[in-house]
Amino acid sequence: MKGKNSKPWSGRFEQSTDPVVESFTSSLGFDERLFPYDIQGSIAHARMLGSSGLITNEEAEAIINGLEEIREEWEMGRFPLDESLEDIHMNIEARLIKKIGPAGGKLHTARSRNDQVTLDLRLCIRYEIYEIIRKLRSAQGKLLASARNHIHTLMPGYTHLQRAQPVTFAHHLMAYFEMFSRDIQRLEDCLRRVQVMPLGSGALSGTCLPVDREAVAEELGFDSISSNSLDAVSDRDYALEFLAGLSILMMHLSRLAEEIILWTTAEFGFCELPDSLCTGSSLMPQKKNPDPLELVRGKTGRVYGCLIGLLVTMKALPLSYNRDMQEDKGPLFDAIDTVKGSLSVITLCIENLKVKEDRMLQGVMHGFLEATDLAEYLVQKGVPFRDAHNIIGRLVLDATKRGWTNLSSFSLDELKGFCSHFGNDVMPYLRPEKAAYRKNIQGGTSPSRIEEAIKKAEKDLRKY
Ligand code: ARG
Repeated sequence: MKGKNSKPWSGRFEQSTDPVVESFTSSLGFDERLFPYDIQGSIAHARMLGSSGLITNEEAEAIINGLEEIREEWEMGRFPLDESLEDIHMNIEARLIKKIGPAGGKLHTARSRNDQVTLDLRLCIRYEIYEIIRKLRSAQGKLLASARNHIHTLMPGYTHLQRAQPVTFAHHLMAYFEMFSRDIQRLEDCLRRVQVMPLGSGALSGTCLPVDREAVAEELGFDSISSNSLDAVSDRDYALEFLAGLSILMMHLSRLAEEIILWTTAEFGFCELPDSLCTGSSLMPQKKNPDPLELVRGKTGRVYGCLIGLLVTMKALPLSYNRDMQEDKGPLFDAIDTVKGSLSVITLCIENLKVKEDRMLQGVMHGFLEATDLAEYLVQKGVPFRDAHNIIGRLVLDATKRGWTNLSSFSLDELKGFCSHFGNDVMPYLRPEKAAYRKNIQGGTSPSRIEEAIKKAEKDLRKY
């Protein structure tokens, strides 16, 4: 079988591939994205083949030049893709042979697509990890800039979505700064497992040819080489870890998206988004909807799906490579694009969020957000906390019955009726707007602590 239907592997075949199978098995539709990494990996491999004497230096040079020309063709949109050639790897090899002749047929010496494809994926994920970290840092920069402006902006802090205690808006923003820092750490940690060079593993058992694996690793900037060829071609842990890191990151983005969505409702009214970051309704003329943020929230499910999809693909696969693993690319690329898009949207929203301090303060003033501080006041007077809790609870009940929404209207005499330990110095404790300033503990919400936290974060971020 030669001619039109011939494949690089067609030697032992007597029939040409059924077109249904050809299109079903092709990964070209989604692995073209590995193009630059495949060229990069092949150049390093060819150089090593040359310096190890497995091919002549002239052949190595011809291959490298050919690959570089192919890269130019691709960059200019002139690289011809042949659907019958299964994937991007075989397309590049076939193009090389066409361009430089038989020397091109030596590129695949001591290499299988099984170790080649996992090398390409590792290069791709490494690149994307740096990209995503860069985007996370940019989002952190916008959080910091906004936090700086809101060190003294008070807002109700919530538990159970019920008003709980006053916090500063800067403190709230800095909570997301912390989450993004952990996301960066997770990606950096994952990078340690990505940074392992698999070439030399061959199809599964290694190669009898004396390749220099360390040289390839060094040229490509990997930290080490894989230690078990069976594992190396079967391993997608690094991709799973990456997707797990992206899933947690999306969970953070969706929580922030949800909060901004809530804050921009008429019911909360804490913030406003510019028109440019909202969309309208095809029917209701008055609507201005936070669709981009809803999509960040919605796309979180999509990224979780990518993680679960790949976990299920990998489940129970016998060693070593199985074609099932070709299905790794769809979820991986989808998650990468979704996360990068979501980060761009979230960053814009953080940067352009208009904060309505007066509405936030109103929230602080109504809902007994000072109650815990008052209990802690009694604790400082020697009252056991459990008793203090009960006394203030009764105070809140009494105020509620009078139709009050905070404790500031009680006179000292009335307070003394609830507990003899109340003294003159209690008055500031009755004012909810003072509460945040008392949380002057490490990690607390007081403006001076937040200022410290912002300074430290600014210093950390400036390192990059
Ligand atoms: N396109 C394949 C993939 O992405 C390349 C590896 C094919 N290997 C094989 N033995 N058929 O997984």
